[in-house]
Amino acid sequence: MKVIDKLLNIPFFYKSWSGLVNNKKMDVINEILSEFEFSHVLDLGCGPATNTHCFSQNYYVGVDKNKKYINKAKILYPELNFYNNDITKIEFNETSFNLIILNSILHHLADKEVTELFQKLINYLSDNGSIIITEPLYPSHNNKIQKFTMQLDRGNYFRTVSEYNKLYSPFLTVVKEIRYPLTIFGITGWSMCCRQLKSK
Ligand SMILES: C[S@@+](CC[C@H](N)C(=O)[O-])C[C@H]1O[C@@H](n2cnc3c(N)ncnc32)[C@H](O)[C@@H]1O
Repeated sequence: MKVIDKLLNIPFFYKSWSGLVNNKKMDVINEILSEFEFSHVLDLGCGPATNTHCFSQNYYVGVDKNKKYINKAKILYPELNFYNNDITKIEFNETSFNLIILNSILHHLADKEVTELFQKLINYLSDNGSIIITEPLYPSHNNKIQKFTMQLDRGNYFRTVSEYNKLYSPFLTVVKEIRYPLTIFGITGWSMCCRQLKSK
């Protein structure tokens, strides 16, 4: 494991790092969320409760495979539901969710895992419920900075929009999409895509 991965696996370092870009990512997600109502939220790959404050008034379930992150999340929000589990393996007995958030998690999963995850998730999605995904896109041109940030990342599966389309278009339709540059200190490190998806 790279030194940078070891540091990022510690909640304090992850929160400090993600704090540099997280507000922008949540602003875009919130822009989409402002257009519909939701009450039951499933946050997959929730980290150390990075975005839980946006949903803490709702019925909320957060899942992450990093035990340290989940322990931190439970301390921050003891009244909410956090599970230390692999999202590709977890099953729920819950009533359905009308909002499922996948914020910067799909680039950690192989194609087969993504397809199987979406196949499973549509069973947990209520009628008219939405899945929100936010992902950095693989640069279509030779962008050295963005390729460098991807090399530093713990995820190994960066994709283009058309690669994502192939994975979920059999089950899901894109309702809304916002693309934006994510910058640190004025430098664009990632080309982001946030999408609202619904069952077909
Ligand atoms: C880039 S972080 C994003 C965390 C959070 N959503 C955020 O916006 O800050 C990716 C997260 O996915 C988690 N993760 C990666 N693969 C996972 C898996 N198979 N099951 C559960 N969590 C996973 C990591 O532990 C990490 O917390």
